[in-house]
Amino acid sequence: MREVRFSLVPAELVGAEVTNAWAGWPGAAVVAPYLVLRAVVSGAVDPHTGYLCGISVIDGLLRERAIPLLRRRYEEAAGRPLPVPPLLPAAWRACVPHLPPGVGLDELHLRITPYLSFALRAGDLSMIRMTESFEFAASHRLHRPRMSDEENRRVFGKCNNPTGHGHNYTFEVTVEGTPDERTGVLIELPVFEAAVKSRVIDALDHKHLNTDCEAFASLNPTVENIARVIWDRLVDVFGGCRLCGVRVWETPKTYAEYDGREG
Ligand code: NI
Repeated sequence: MREVRFSLVPAELVGAEVTNAWAGWPGAAVVAPYLVLRAVVSGAVDPHTGYLCGISVIDGLLRERAIPLLRRRYEEAAGRPLPVPPLLPAAWRACVPHLPPGVGLDELHLRITPYLSFALRAGDLSMIRMTESFEFAASHRLHRPRMSDEENRRVFGKCNNPTGHGHNYTFEVTVEGTPDERTGVLIELPVFEAAVKSRVIDALDHKHLNTDCEAFASLNPTVENIARVIWDRLVDVFGGCRLCGVRVWETPKTYAEYDGREG
């Protein structure tokens, strides 16, 4: 995987040299959308170099093929709404013919805010994935009534504190589907967000999960089980889009992911 960060500044503001690829190049010399493109490639490693593909090759591909296309589409839209899903297959087709021999493009991701991204995967370029992140704050206590107090303390440690403890949870919801042919939209974002709010956030935010949420009345509110509960609450609410992943971050160092399609 390799990502490039960039701002959609007018072409005349793009310098000749890459000056700060970390913060994004082209840089935001003026107010402009800041985007991130990720390419996931696969293939055999060259036994001499140890490389699958030099990162400068992927950077060059994305910067010379995909980013100019995105800039052109953005400028052509001239302030009119520009749906993201149709941009991905276009960028994919612009890049693939120029991949080095033996290197395959598996996934292409376009992040349009720090919290919202779209992805395309090899095999079916009509199928788009969208992932957005949300937050809620809640308290919980990890405890199994069938276990002794001593065993609970041994298994769950400080997470077994009798009066609970809190987390600022974030979670990512991924859906996939075929964008509307006429509008290019996968799912109306306000509709998607309202469904997550009503089905998940309103049920969990600022609650004590063990006592305030029926789903955890007899289910230990571990991050694994929270991911499963969120999945169950969302699995049938997105109409033509299919839920395909829920990732719950309990801390910046811990997440659990659930995909109920795996059975
Ligand atoms: Ni905890």
